[in-house]
Amino acid sequence: MRVHVADHPLIDHKLSVLRNKETPSPVFRQLADELVTLLAYEATREVHTEEIEVVTPVATAHCRRIADPRPMVVPILRAGLGMLEGMTRLLPTAEVGFLGMSRNEKTLEIETYANRLPQDLSGRQVFIVDPMLATGHTLIAAIDYLLERGAKDVTALFLLAAPEGLKAVEEAVGDRANVTIVVAAVDDHLNENAYIVPGLGDAGDRLYGVVD
Ligand code: URA
Repeated sequence: MRVHVADHPLIDHKLSVLRNKETPSPVFRQLADELVTLLAYEATREVHTEEIEVVTPVATAHCRRIADPRPMVVPILRAGLGMLEGMTRLLPTAEVGFLGMSRNEKTLEIETYANRLPQDLSGRQVFIVDPMLATGHTLIAAIDYLLERGAKDVTALFLLAAPEGLKAVEEAVGDRANVTIVVAAVDDHLNENAYIVPGLGDAGDRLYGVVD
């Protein structure tokens, strides 16, 4: 597994505003969207391309374009929706699938409550978007799900990650797939409620408001 921590002054600045508990939802949404576009630039560095010839007004140019099968972007509901547009802005030809995952508070298992993905993902590059990599359990379940459908190449974009989550994902995935994590920052640790410290709070609530 590769971890790429995006290192850029614009990312640092936007993250500082996102972390501030006084930042209101509309500004949070806008900044999360801008941050994803910056992360997406890094995350798509190895997207598959193919050669094409393009006739310019002057001559024929040998160019490259994104190859088939088209990449797949998968936001993890609900908070991942806040990162979808920033991602598809850079990858407009990508297809979008959805995974809704939540933790069963009794068994602590991750349960999939929504799934809109092709059955066969062989040969597809998949880009998962989710703001927070905390314990890593959701990402592990999402990667397992994608691997069962034949995906081998998975890149996951996060605003923040905890070291505990990165370690858990690395141990769970091993060499079963080519997994890359692209993240704006890796924070200190998880607290007893599995929140990232210092983090930015509950990303879903900060994007969309508190839902009881
Ligand atoms: N999910 C969040 O939204 N925030 C955290 O800090 C951890 C998980």
